[in-house]
Amino acid sequence: MFAPWASKMISMRSSQEIVTALEEGEPGRILDALKFRGVDQQALFKAAREARDRVLGHSAILRGVVELTNLCRMSCLYCPMRRGGVAAEEHYLLSQDLIAAAIERICADPINVVSLQSGETPRVAELAIFATRVAAAKAPDRREVLLCLGKQELQVYEDLRASGADSYIMKFETSDVRLHETLRGEPLETRLSHIRALQSIGFAVGTGSIVGLPGQPLESVADDIQFGVALGTAMLSVSPFIPGERTPLRHAKMGDRDTTLNAISIMRLMSPAATIPTVSALELTGGDGQLAGLMAGANVVTVNYTPSREAGLYHIYRENRFRVPLDHALRVIDLANLSCTEDHMSLPSANRGAIKAHQPEQRTIVEM
Ligand code: 5AD
Repeated sequence: MFAPWASKMISMRSSQEIVTALEEGEPGRILDALKFRGVDQQALFKAAREARDRVLGHSAILRGVVELTNLCRMSCLYCPMRRGGVAAEEHYLLSQDLIAAAIERICADPINVVSLQSGETPRVAELAIFATRVAAAKAPDRREVLLCLGKQELQVYEDLRASGADSYIMKFETSDVRLHETLRGEPLETRLSHIRALQSIGFAVGTGSIVGLPGQPLESVADDIQFGVALGTAMLSVSPFIPGERTPLRHAKMGDRDTTLNAISIMRLMSPAATIPTVSALELTGGDGQLAGLMAGANVVTVNYTPSREAGLYHIYRENRFRVPLDHALRVIDLANLSCTEDHMSLPSANRGAIKAHQPEQRTIVEM
């Protein structure tokens, strides 16, 4: 005789077992959890939310991003902002005035973190140092200054840190050595050496990967989660692959929304104190994607403060991306039953306060 409640109970028992294993840091169960759907998936999301709320309170962090330039020297096959992907007349480098005005707007809003982002180009270094100084000058309750500028010279990292930057995002994108080199035209190890360099300079580092890249089996997604968690960074993120129109991968399938949400929950369970964003790309996978990310255990939403013309030329994910306005971010945070943290420094306490002294002898050598 078929009893639907019986299969549901078995399912709940096995999902609970897997949740417990993940909380104990058991990487062997990541793949199982990535496949969860239905009641198992709901149990996973609930456990991840509880872990977040237990460790971080029912609070979310708001970041405000200014995208300094869309110039990029890399040619990542998945990225619409790749070299050659943006027409020369569409390239921009924000003026100092526009940057200062955007940072002013961030600081007038209830935003915890000033995030400065760009394509990977040495031409952004001076501008980023300027922007960092402007953002860091918002004393005494200055906000965290978070950078995401791709690989830069070691000296530039040091200058940025000395100018008041607190944190830096450098995603590894995929930990599969062959796939990484195929998609990015650069060895994984190069990227990793920069992550280590940023850590040794005293940045709180964020890293992460893309889910659903062409040629990436689910086992590889599981490996990426294990790899990211093992790096022990303060911030972890995961984004669904979005096939961008002007990229060689434009005909590929979009990354799976459920798998991405499960990845967020798994990261939360394995690294409960991590800062985990609900990325804007989730909105492209269906309705209320960012809300779903928060319901899966994420705790950060990024609001876009790039001037409108330039934001339209900053092609990450795809040309017509979702640009997050403040009211949308506040709405999803509210719907997720979270409140915005009052804290202007969203970093773990170890990374707050005085800039750590540089220790040159411990630095990793970086090949540019
Ligand atoms: N799909 C998903 N993520 C992407 N990124 C860039 N292009 C895509 C894409 N097509 C992400 C990468 C990069 C960040 C700025 O945007 O993770 O690090």
